[in-house]
Amino acid sequence: MHKFSIRVFGCQMNSYDGDRLRTAMLRYGWAETDDTEADVVILVTCSIRAKAEQKVTSEIGRYDLSYRHKKKPYVVLVGCMAQRIGREISRKFQCVRVVSGPRHLGLVPQAVTEISQGMSQRYFMDDDPRALIDLNVVPSARLNPFKAYLTISYGCDRFCSYCIVPYVRGRLQSRAAEEILAEAKALTDGGVKEITLLGQNVDAYGKDFSNGYSFASLLKDVSRQENLLRLRFATSHPKDFDDNILEVMQENKNICRAINLPIQSGNDRVLREMNRGYTAEQYLALVTKIKEALPDVSLTTDLIVGFPGETDEEFRDSYNLLKEVRFDIVHTAAYSPREGTRAAMMDNQIDNRIKAMRLNEINALQSQIAREANERYVGCEFDILADGAAPRGEGKIQGRTMSDKVVIVDGTENDFGNVFRVRITRASHWSLEGERI
Ligand code: SAH
Ligand code: SF4
Ligand code: F3S
Repeated sequence: MHKFSIRVFGCQMNSYDGDRLRTAMLRYGWAETDDTEADVVILVTCSIRAKAEQKVTSEIGRYDLSYRHKKKPYVVLVGCMAQRIGREISRKFQCVRVVSGPRHLGLVPQAVTEISQGMSQRYFMDDDPRALIDLNVVPSARLNPFKAYLTISYGCDRFCSYCIVPYVRGRLQSRAAEEILAEAKALTDGGVKEITLLGQNVDAYGKDFSNGYSFASLLKDVSRQENLLRLRFATSHPKDFDDNILEVMQENKNICRAINLPIQSGNDRVLREMNRGYTAEQYLALVTKIKEALPDVSLTTDLIVGFPGETDEEFRDSYNLLKEVRFDIVHTAAYSPREGTRAAMMDNQIDNRIKAMRLNEINALQSQIAREANERYVGCEFDILADGAAPRGEGKIQGRTMSDKVVIVDGTENDFGNVFRVRITRASHWSLEGERI
């Protein structure tokens, strides 16, 4: 039997694609193994920053050495980086035999099988950002049996000036609600307790329909799925997040009180240059509204430092905004120029050393905020859904609260997939420890 290995880089959408590819490959009669034994290594890749691509390129270099000596493994390069620079990469490395962008995954399992029977290289990339040949597979062979991702829309239409996503994932295309609901049912029938709906901008779901069916409608319909304990979604866009979503969240208790609402910058000039479509003040007003509607909400955000032309004072606006809002988690990144985007062509790029300094400063602030926030939970009680072994410690497992906080407790494999009540006994900046009650 031929063996494959699959490695996923990048965002949750790639995890979803990875789980679907794994499921499809198993159905094609392949067996899964790790990359040291595999005949084929499938790399599900990301282009969001230069670093993400460099890492994968060096991994391919490693596989290529082995391929030259042993004729294995060959590499199947899929995802955003494949779409962006897959042709170049396959010219450089012999081992790369199949290349597919994220909108052509449906062709991959068949092609991988044909290649192993002697076919030459295959390329599936399209210049049409609307073409879509999807894998029609429910991801049943997941890394996590109790939690599943479910992509509700492909691509993005917002064209933030720094971002490569619209170029590699294409235009916004919402999946039909019936398809999503059928998938949610198949997942819960298969034992899934928690579903996370995914889109680059979930709030834009349905804007390409003409029947008025929106993200709020979908959220409500999916939340009614029997045996679904928890429903999450990511990512929201401050410009498109609306009151109807808040209302549906208030009415349905299995929708988690956790919202990722990327701000990207706290300065209005920078936000305008980024093409984000809101001001810092509008963002703060939305935060106030969300907190009023959902007092126990956990807010997380994404922030970029060192966008072209960002002055010290403009960076200070971002810093102060984090201090004011006190997010639970902030995903920070130093701006990375992406070829073909508008920001990459701006002539006022910031020096890497300055970006690194700003990143350090903002990360130090946030880790202090997160620790203080977590310390306030000591003594509080939460329901957690146990979802796996703790990263460290014998006899420890981890679970998540409704607001997506990690709690470490004593437990065994038998607890996985169950919900139980815990009291928090200790806090650090990234996790909580608790005891069962
Ligand atoms: N659709 C989401 C997330 C997109 S990508 C949104 O609108 O926010 C995930 C994160 O990567 C972004 O939120 C942004 O903070 C970061 N990112 C995107 N492009 C980047 C770039 N060129 N350099 C650095 N960070 C970037
Ligand atoms: Fe990129 Fe902006 Fe779309 Fe998010 S909303 S994926 S940052 S273009
Ligand atoms: Fe990366 Fe593509 Fe996701 S660029 S962040 S894998 S949409």
